Amino acid sequence: MKLFAGVPGWTSHADVIVIGSGVAGLTTALNARAANLSVLLVTKAQIDEGSTKWAQGGIAAALGPGDTPDEHKTDTLIAGAGLCDIDAVNVLVTEGPEAVRKLIARGAVFDKSESGEIALTREGGHHRNRILHAGGDATGAEVSRALLAAVQNDSGIEVIEHALVIDALLSDSGRVCGVTLHVIGAGSSSGVGRALARAVVIATGGLGQVYSQTTNPSVSTGDGVALALRAGAAVADVEFIQFHPTVFWRDTSSAGQQPLISEAVRGEGAILLNHKGEHFMAAVHPQADLAPRDIVAKEIFNQMREAHVPHVWLDATQVKDFQERFPTIYASCRANGIDPENQLIPVAPASHYASGGVLVDLNGESTVPGLYVCGESACTGAHGANRLASNSLLEGLVFGARISEHISSHLPEQEVPTDDSDEKRILIDPAIRIPLQLAMSQGAGVMRSEKSLQITLTTLQQLGARHTQLPGVDAWEVSNLYVLATAIVRSALERQESRGSHWRTDYPDTNPIWEKRILQRLDQNGTWSSSLMEVVK
Ligand code: SIN
Repeated sequence: MKLFAGVPGWTSHADVIVIGSGVAGLTTALNARAANLSVLLVTKAQIDEGSTKWAQGGIAAALGPGDTPDEHKTDTLIAGAGLCDIDAVNVLVTEGPEAVRKLIARGAVFDKSESGEIALTREGGHHRNRILHAGGDATGAEVSRALLAAVQNDSGIEVIEHALVIDALLSDSGRVCGVTLHVIGAGSSSGVGRALARAVVIATGGLGQVYSQTTNPSVSTGDGVALALRAGAAVADVEFIQFHPTVFWRDTSSAGQQPLISEAVRGEGAILLNHKGEHFMAAVHPQADLAPRDIVAKEIFNQMREAHVPHVWLDATQVKDFQERFPTIYASCRANGIDPENQLIPVAPASHYASGGVLVDLNGESTVPGLYVCGESACTGAHGANRLASNSLLEGLVFGARISEHISSHLPEQEVPTDDSDEKRILIDPAIRIPLQLAMSQGAGVMRSEKSLQITLTTLQQLGARHTQLPGVDAWEVSNLYVLATAIVRSALERQESRGSHWRTDYPDTNPIWEKRILQRLDQNGTWSSSLMEVVK
C-alpha cells in the first residue's frame, strides 16, 4: 500500500539515503561518510528543526566516578518494566560511553563542574548522577549544532531540505532500494521525485503529533514509521507512548507543542505539589519525584482526577541558580507569566516519546531488507515499556554508528525498483487532523480502557474513510498520523494489562503472561495483522 502522489519527475542517487536530521540521522550520515559512502540526507523542514534540538535534560552514559554500564543497565531495565531486550540494553549501556566521547571529539561541548569535570545531573529512574547536559538545559541544541557543523563540512553528504518522504521503493527481490519524496517549494528540484540507494535509513523521530498536546514539534508526524509500515515492516511496542510528567500547563484549550520542564529540574531539587500543597510523590515511590517517568505521570494524573483540576504544581523555588542552570526553561516560564524562582509552575503530563517503533535488530535493520531505522522511529527493544530518561539521544548515537557499520560491511549492488503503478494507494482528507488528535487524547492517552479504545478505533475508522484526491504535505502527514494512530490503538486494545506507560483502567495490574512484545503489520491491501514476540531476557 502506498500514498497517493504524483509521478516522480526526477531521480537522485547515493549509496545511502538518510531520512531525518536529528541526532540519529546526523550520526548515521557522518559514520557512513567515514566508511566512504556517499550520503543523501533528506529532511522535512530546515536541517536544524526536529526533536533533537528541543531535548533539554541530556544524555545518559556511565561516565561518572564509580558509575558502571551495569548500573545504567539496571536502571534501564527497571524503567522498561519487563519488556526490555537485554541484548539491546547491553549494547546501549556498554557502547554508550564511547559514543559520547566520539560526540565530544566531533565538537559537542558539555557543561563542566567547578573542578573542570563534565557536570552530571540526575533524572527520573536513575540511581546516580549520569546525565550530561549542555547550555544548562539546551543539550539537544548543542548536540545538533556540533553534528550539523560536521555534516555541513562534508561535501560527500548531499542535503535536501524541506522534503517530505512519501514511500519506499522496493525491488523484485523485496529489498528497499530507494524512496519517493516531495520537495516543497519552487526550484529545479521541486515536486515529486525519487532517490535510489543501496540502503535507506529512517531517522524521522517521533510521532507526538498524533495527540493534541505534545512536547514534540509540528514536524513530528511519524512519517518514517508510517512509510515502513506501508512497505511491509513490523512495528513493535507502539502502545507505549510516554507522557512526560512535567509539561507547562497553559490552559485547557492549548494544543500542539507545549513547553517542556525537564526532569533535570527535579534532579536539581524541585518537587511536585498537589492543590493542597502536599508533596505527594514522597508517599508513592522510594525515589519520590525522581521515580521512573511513567510512575510520576500516572500519579500526577491521579492527583488531577481526584481534585478535578487540570494540573499540579512544580515547586522549583529551592533550585540553586535556576536562571543560569535552566535558561531555556526560565525564559519559557517567564514568557508564560511565571517566575520559577519565586512562583510555582503549573504542570501536567503530555505526550512526549514513542518507546516503540519500527522493529529492528541490533544492526538497526527492519524486517524489510535494506530498510534501516534509527532513534525514536525504531524499536530496538532498549526502552521496553517505558524509556529511561535521557536514553534517547544515546540510542541515536550508539545505533547510528552500528547501522553505518553494518551497511558498509554488507553493501549490495543498487537494485531496480519494481513497477508499482498497480499498487493500492490512499490519501486522507487533511481536515481530519484535529478530530484525530482529539480522539487519541481522549481515548488512547495516559489512561485507556477497552471502552475508550473501542470508541477511538470507531472514530478513527470514520475519519479514515474521508479521502482526498489532492496530494500535498497536509494530506500525506495526516495519512501517516492515521496509520500510526490505528497501530497504537490496536496494540493498546490487545494488551490487556497495565505496564510501563500503558495504563488500562480495566486491567490495572501487570500480568506476567503479557511479558511479550506486540507486533503490528499492514499488508498491501491495507489489512492489519498482529502477532506476539518473546522478549530476549
Ligand atoms: C527531560 O529533559 O525531562 C526530557 C529528557 C528525556 O526525554 O529523556
